[in-house]
Amino acid sequence: MRPSGGRRRPARDDAHRQAILSNIPDQAWLKDVESRYVAVNEAYAEACGLPQEEILGRRPTDVWPSAIAIQYLTTDRTVLASGTQQRYEERRPDRRGRMRCYETIKTPVRDARGRIIGTAGISRDITHHKNLERELRRSRGQLRQLSAHLHSVREEERARIARELHDELGQNLTALRLGLDWADAQLVPGQERLSAKLASLRHLADATVVTMARIATELRPIILDDLGLAAASEWLAESVAKQTGIEITLSITLNRDPQAHEVAITLFRILQEALTNIVRHAQASLVAITLTESGREIVLEVADNGCGFAPSAHQRRAPTLGLLGMQERAAAVGGVLAIESGIGSGTRIALRVPRRRPRGPRSRSAP
Ligand SMILES: Nc1ncnc2c1ncn2[C@@H]1O[C@H](COP(=O)(O)OP(=O)(O)OP(=O)(O)O)[C@@H](O)[C@H]1O
Ligand SMILES: [Mg+2]
Repeated sequence: MRPSGGRRRPARDDAHRQAILSNIPDQAWLKDVESRYVAVNEAYAEACGLPQEEILGRRPTDVWPSAIAIQYLTTDRTVLASGTQQRYEERRPDRRGRMRCYETIKTPVRDARGRIIGTAGISRDITHHKNLERELRRSRGQLRQLSAHLHSVREEERARIARELHDELGQNLTALRLGLDWADAQLVPGQERLSAKLASLRHLADATVVTMARIATELRPIILDDLGLAAASEWLAESVAKQTGIEITLSITLNRDPQAHEVAITLFRILQEALTNIVRHAQASLVAITLTESGREIVLEVADNGCGFAPSAHQRRAPTLGLLGMQERAAAVGGVLAIESGIGSGTRIALRVPRRRPRGPRSRSAP
């Protein structure tokens, strides 16, 4: 609306001001420099439990319990003295005595010459948001625990199956192979067809031993349990380099392996997923892996010179499980995973984990 010019009309201004305040669903008010209420809306009057006209001209100490009123006077003074907006959260009971949480914003009001002539305030009930936030944090914590538990159970299961394949099936296959050798030695001239059959069975037994060893290693490299993280990382880097032709450098400066076996498994699995991603997506020719210590932390870095990707764009797409799994595995042992990447500038993954697994609700660890 354009001003009509000429004299101002206070009554009309007041009506407009009151209309704006009434339109605000949150509690809203105006005060002068002495913290006297100049205008309040219905929501504010409702919160005080007084009619609007009984609030006007009075101070917070006249309309609020003293602990709350003192807080309001203090924040008013801060706004008046600093001349800046203040934003804070407060808790106070509503008229039925239920504790509520509010976000309050107080702003200085200035006249045409810039002098502060009072304050304007607005207070929003954010109890529902706070409850949702708490619930979200709680359920995220539970999901984290569940994910960590599932990783741990899966590792235990993989380790058990790998051991059984190696110990049970491996021994049986060896016995089978020896039996075939023995049977072959019993053959007499003229039993060529039987000899050929035995030769093909020996070949099958050998191939099965190789396949079984590969499956067992994929499930859980025994070298990790027997010789530790450094040896297992070397083995992994070497086998990926051999299979793909990518040049992989590995620099390990660990004084000793992690104290918690679970930490070693986490580092190994994250290295494994990082290398798998490089092979699948990066088109890299060079990969540098470093495994070092920094204070009480172990730091794993995997950098490639490949095509890179935009992590923020990736976050907006449907979730993929590799990077998420790495983050969750890292969090489960109190670690932090950082991913730096950009289109055309390679990818660098940096994982920091404490040597010891933090104490948590879980007590199971992989054998
Ligand atoms: N080293 C890398 N170089 C280039 N792009 C990468 C690299 N690592 C990850 N990415 C990109 O990030 C995406 C997400 O990786 P993530 O490991 O989460 O999923 P994925 O490998 O596609 O599938 P999976 O869930 O089977 O692991 C990949 O699809 C790829 O586009
Ligand atoms: Mg992946």
